[in-house]
Amino acid sequence: MKRKPVIVVGCDHAGFGVKQYIKALLEEMGYPIEDVGTHSRKNVDYPDYAERVALAVKKGKQKRGILACGTGIGAAIAINKFPGIYAALVHDGRDARLSRQHNNANVLVLGGRPYRKKNVANMLRTWLRYDFEGGRHRRRINKIAHIEKKYHNKIR
Ligand code: RB5
Repeated sequence: MKRKPVIVVGCDHAGFGVKQYIKALLEEMGYPIEDVGTHSRKNVDYPDYAERVALAVKKGKQKRGILACGTGIGAAIAINKFPGIYAALVHDGRDARLSRQHNNANVLVLGGRPYRKKNVANMLRTWLRYDFEGGRHRRRINKIAHIEKKYHNKIR
């Protein structure tokens, strides 16, 4: 059986509820978890937690990340600034599947205000189940990596 990757989880105050729910699901499924906060509903800034998740994911080879804020939008914008992070803001099971099969997303981003348990559980299980399909999608991912390299620090 394949070894389960460590899942790094992070959120701001608005994503705290959904992050806690995700942690419970991951525990149930037997995934090792690294929780980088936040740990309460006290107001914080989502870019700080995007940074924590990004750095933790980049540290370990097999790690994957899950990040939540109110809508998921700010979190997705912030974490996609980090080299090597391919974060997908998903809203349903289909998004979750395609974010793996086509985009090889190593970070799943969710909105926590509001969230539906059934939908979150479906998105999480689907995202963990599917693998990257490669082929023509590899070519496109390589182009994204090329853009990252080409423009890094060059646009003011
Ligand atoms: C925080 O109030 C909220 O703006 C944040 O969680 C997120 O939704 C930003 O995109």
